Amino acid sequence: MNTPHINAPDGAIAKTILMPGDPLRAKYIADTFLTDVIQINEVRNMFGYTGNYNGKRITVMGSGMGMPSIGIYSYELYKFFGVEKIIRIGSCGAYSPELDLYDTVLVSEAYSESTYALVQSGENCNVLAASPVLNKELEDAAKRLNIPIHTGRIHSSDVFYRENPDFTVIFEKHNCIGVEMESFALFNNAKVLGKQAACLLTVSDSLVTHKVTTAEERQTAFTNMMKIALELAE
Ligand code: HPA
Repeated sequence: MNTPHINAPDGAIAKTILMPGDPLRAKYIADTFLTDVIQINEVRNMFGYTGNYNGKRITVMGSGMGMPSIGIYSYELYKFFGVEKIIRIGSCGAYSPELDLYDTVLVSEAYSESTYALVQSGENCNVLAASPVLNKELEDAAKRLNIPIHTGRIHSSDVFYRENPDFTVIFEKHNCIGVEMESFALFNNAKVLGKQAACLLTVSDSLVTHKVTTAEERQTAFTNMMKIALELAE
């Protein structure tokens, strides 16, 4: 099956897919956690792999950064490749002082100023929810693995470099505990296409304390959220 952005053999993509932003993180997950791995996409180097985790099938593929990019890939995967569940695994900046570097966040809802939903389906909304069923499965998986998680609303931003980096309005008025750049588009596509979506994040930097992780740490150290998400292989 060929779409403009994905070229995968028929039946090669599992019904459940993990999507890190970085395609090299997808390769890292496949190399580290999966067996019997086949590569299912290399268009634009947006690498994807299908393999087994504890004997259960799962696909892991990069989404790229930002809502336009995850919007394209998630739409094609849901609509043309029979994917039912997408779990984004990414990084976020902390708005809340209660979040430390490397903490794991399960996203309940995404708030955004983005026009993604308006343009994509005509829905004029600013808040979209994750699938409650998937979130319950992820919460149960985290408990089984003894990994603590924070659950809360996240800010899906269109802008990484803001001239006015005052995040306190979004933290206080919109109740967002952190910021990333993809969930709102993913949740919109799942809703429009009748599919399921969820998002687990690892805190990579704090807008409160200005602590940061390095790119190298980010590629390899985010294993807690990967292990939780991989439990949903089926
Ligand atoms: N802003 C937006 N997205 C992010 C950030 C941030 O500070 N950190 C990780 N993803």
